[in-house]
Amino acid sequence: MPIGDAPIVSMDAITKTFPGVKALDQVKLDLYPGQVTALVGENGAGKSTTVKILTGIYQPNGGTIRLNGAPITFATPNDASRAGITAIHQETVLFDELSVAENIFIGHAPRTRWGLIDKGQMHRAAGKLLAEIGAPFGPRTPLRDLGIANKHLVAIARALSVDARVVIMDEPTAALSHKEIEELYALVEALKAQGKAILFISHKFDEIFRIADRYTVFRDGAFVGDGRIEDISENDLVTMMVGRAVDQIFPDRTRLSGTEALKVVGYDHPTEFADINFTLNKGEILGFYGLVGAGRSEFMQALFGITKPTKGVCRINGNISVIRSPADAVKNGIVYVPEDRGKQGAIIGLPIFQNITLPSVGRTSRRGFLQLAEEFKLARTYAERLDLRAASLDQDVGNLSGGNQQKVVIAKWLATKPQVIILDEPTKGIDIGSKAAVHEFMAELVAQGLSIIMVSSEIPEVIGMSDRVIVMRDGRIATELEGDALTPETLVRHAAGIAEGTAA
Ligand SMILES: Nc1ncnc2c1ncn2[C@@H]1O[C@H](COP(=O)(O)OP(=O)(O)OP(=O)(O)O)[C@@H](O)[C@H]1O
Ligand SMILES: [Mg+2]
Repeated sequence: MPIGDAPIVSMDAITKTFPGVKALDQVKLDLYPGQVTALVGENGAGKSTTVKILTGIYQPNGGTIRLNGAPITFATPNDASRAGITAIHQETVLFDELSVAENIFIGHAPRTRWGLIDKGQMHRAAGKLLAEIGAPFGPRTPLRDLGIANKHLVAIARALSVDARVVIMDEPTAALSHKEIEELYALVEALKAQGKAILFISHKFDEIFRIADRYTVFRDGAFVGDGRIEDISENDLVTMMVGRAVDQIFPDRTRLSGTEALKVVGYDHPTEFADINFTLNKGEILGFYGLVGAGRSEFMQALFGITKPTKGVCRINGNISVIRSPADAVKNGIVYVPEDRGKQGAIIGLPIFQNITLPSVGRTSRRGFLQLAEEFKLARTYAERLDLRAASLDQDVGNLSGGNQQKVVIAKWLATKPQVIILDEPTKGIDIGSKAAVHEFMAELVAQGLSIIMVSSEIPEVIGMSDRVIVMRDGRIATELEGDALTPETLVRHAAGIAEGTAA
């Protein structure tokens, strides 16, 4: 890109306050044609708020937005869309009741000359967009039938269906598999080549350094700096973002040789998984690695009693059990923190502290003021351990940033004092500084004799945190790895089913 190119969009001194919170304080952000700008910041730094202002969802309290140099205001999302700004939001708003094509074209469907929706045209256009991004499903598929990763592709197709000049992606790869992420990168390159300005939000630094041309850093709602990616190191960028140097090192643990905590025998499901057998020991972190669709989450949901396996039993602390419901699982000391924490997670409208203590309130039986004080104390302990950033624990959980809502959901399950904790993608959407807090907390819990099953697609996390790793492929256990056999290469080979020595 020639130096001196003018930004397409430029935000200047933008301020946004919510009751009790200054989410943005005079921030600036420039987006250049044909370039990817990474917006970097901790959970709650103000990234999604910026996106919502740029797309007309929120109105700023002060400051100026310029489009090609001319001041502009976006009173509604339609205004922003008409100005050529489109976004894939962190929490995608899609409709299960509609088809894929209807979701893509909702609000701007092609019309016949009678003003009716031109379904043929809509399906053709949707089919073309889906093919372009390599989606493995057609335009007529009901959205309800798709998993999270594929729903995300629908959101991407939707963003591309309006002829945008500015494309915003708020943590687009959080729900995608390795292969889909590569496809997304290719898509970003294509958009760049078309001269579009791209705003890219991610907590993954390898990805920022791979695809971004520029960076802008926010901290606590304030602008800290910006520049070209080629002029900054990863460490410096992290320090800028957190305000201190961060150890990206996994906690040191001495591996315990514990007794059996949980034994899983012969779990089968008609479509999702088959023949799952393993043992989890006390004081152990057992990793589950696999590609999206390998059946890891589906199996965990069965183990937790959300879905029913056709057969399979487990032995917990020596007792044979068949877990029939989540309540059953919790009674047996098993909890599950799901990957899709948005849907199965926080209760919007309830304050943070009640969200955390909800499943454990039975433990503090006295009603009234005393109980409230105890609940608060319990909530505070976990909030601090997980580095939760909130103005107060009284705040509605719905007003927290995406990453902080996830910390609340994790806290809520840990507060039940379980024996076995199943964590599905524990640090997805969590910033680098808080990630270390979550990892340290996990290490401390197993040191106390608890056991953790960790489903993760992040290879460094899988290797850095697990004592042993089970790799799943096509619903079955492909292999179990530990010690020197546990390398990024062996993980990927077994997950993809590539035999030793045959791949490049
Ligand atoms: N509707 C709202 N009402 C009150 N406070 C809000 C609202 N939306 C956001 N906030 C607050 O504004 C701040 C910035 O939140 P934002 O969602 O922009 O963070 P973020 O940088 O996107 O974080 P994450 O990485 O966790 O997604 C946070 O303190 C959040 O609690
Ligand atoms: Mg966000």
